[in-house]
Amino acid sequence: MSDSASTPLPKLLIVEDDPGLQAQLKWAYEDFEVIVAGDRASAIAALRSEEPAVVTLDLGLPPDPDGTSEGFAILDEIMALKPDTKVVVASGHGARQSAQTAIAKGAYDFYQKPVDIESLGMIVRRALHLHKIESENRALAERSDEGNKVLGGLITAAPEMVRVARTIERVANTSVSVMLLGASGTGKELLAKGLHDASDRSKGNFVAINCAAIPENLLESELFGHEKGAFTGAVKTTEGKIELADGGTLFLDEVGDIPLPLQVKLLRFLQERTIERIGGRRSIAVDTRIVCATHQDLEAMIGDGRFREDLFYRLAEIVIKIPSLAERPGDAALLAKAFLARFAREMNPSVKGFAPDALAAIDGWGWPGNVRELENRVKRAVIMADAKLIAAEDLDLAPSDEGEAPLNLKSAREHADRKVIRHALARSEGNISSTARMLGISRPTLYDLLKQYAIHA
Ligand SMILES: Nc1ncnc2c1ncn2[C@@H]1O[C@H](COP(=O)(O)OP(=O)(O)OP(=O)(O)O)[C@@H](O)[C@H]1O
Ligand SMILES: [Mg+2]
Repeated sequence: MSDSASTPLPKLLIVEDDPGLQAQLKWAYEDFEVIVAGDRASAIAALRSEEPAVVTLDLGLPPDPDGTSEGFAILDEIMALKPDTKVVVASGHGARQSAQTAIAKGAYDFYQKPVDIESLGMIVRRALHLHKIESENRALAERSDEGNKVLGGLITAAPEMVRVARTIERVANTSVSVMLLGASGTGKELLAKGLHDASDRSKGNFVAINCAAIPENLLESELFGHEKGAFTGAVKTTEGKIELADGGTLFLDEVGDIPLPLQVKLLRFLQERTIERIGGRRSIAVDTRIVCATHQDLEAMIGDGRFREDLFYRLAEIVIKIPSLAERPGDAALLAKAFLARFAREMNPSVKGFAPDALAAIDGWGWPGNVRELENRVKRAVIMADAKLIAAEDLDLAPSDEGEAPLNLKSAREHADRKVIRHALARSEGNISSTARMLGISRPTLYDLLKQYAIHA
């Protein structure tokens, strides 16, 4: 191999006391650096010095060549010293029992003697593959833990997104207002929080308000606060989000959903930097950094009078466009691995990685719901998984879903329905009401469809 000097070969430790077999096995793995040990002491010494990814272990070793005690003692020691090592155990004729014991002790797999070099080779290579996935996941998990200090744990390798992160870091310590534009689930809130954390206001509050989620008549009071008795139900004086963000950052999410009269009031605040609570007479100075986000086309809204141009320019001193996940090559798989590592650690540690078909499906998917959809699919798969590796099917990304030519119009419609429903469910984290809303149908209709198509929300 031409690059063998730069990429070291993976290490395989063969623990075998029969010199004939030792020699035979040693030459069977040209894609590994093979280390051979004939007894416990040299096996453990090699484990410590070489840290092999995979070990093949003969159970019958001196001083107990016809039993299993020495082999199991080595297995125990390996599992105690380096539990991520993949150990493939050799079991003699009819030694089912010892194979089971080995697996229970943490061995990766076993093979039946006499040795068939080719099938043993397959087991060893599969073990190496798994070892690689696991150590990659561990590295990612560690990296994303560190990442929490920089830009809120942003994970990306795509130049488009790295540029976004750089821009945010650069503007963090200024007072300019920042507008984040991106589709649903692209990480707008994550970036807003990252901007706050990277700024010299990080000791103050990060206050987020989703202007689309709050009914129009309550939004004003949410933003500006109110005095006791200002309106029916105002039983006590309450500070608004703007005031709470004094000394920190105010994140106006879905800023395009602020109704026009309130836009005027917000503009006044941005010009004067003071507010008056509803029903109050005192003007209160507030020093806050404004970050806003929307998935709407504000320029079109300005065009037909639904958004004030003067407010837009106050909010959008710097505009940052966040690329969709589909526009960040390689990021879907990278994020999927990081989410898997995190969710496995938190919820189902027996899950170790993705099967190759899953990674291919992740790369091929369009991700209309962006990172949020990916996060939800991986979370669901990890919770439900009963195997070590997550397959494409577990993510509901079975490849047969695409290219299949339907038989007739009815089945084509069903096919399309299923797909859209599953997407909507994934995007709304399985929430029936918001799925129905997203699909523009009533909840009962959605229930009927779920039942008809046997989809489990
Ligand atoms: N690059 C990334 N690295 C790690 N996690 C990410 C990344 N982008 C998004 N996420 C995670 O994905 C989820 C969705 O991100 P976020 O809420 O920031 O998106 P959003 O654009 O505000 O979405 P929405 O429009 O749905 O509110 C969050 O859990 C966030 O932590
Ligand atoms: Mg958001």
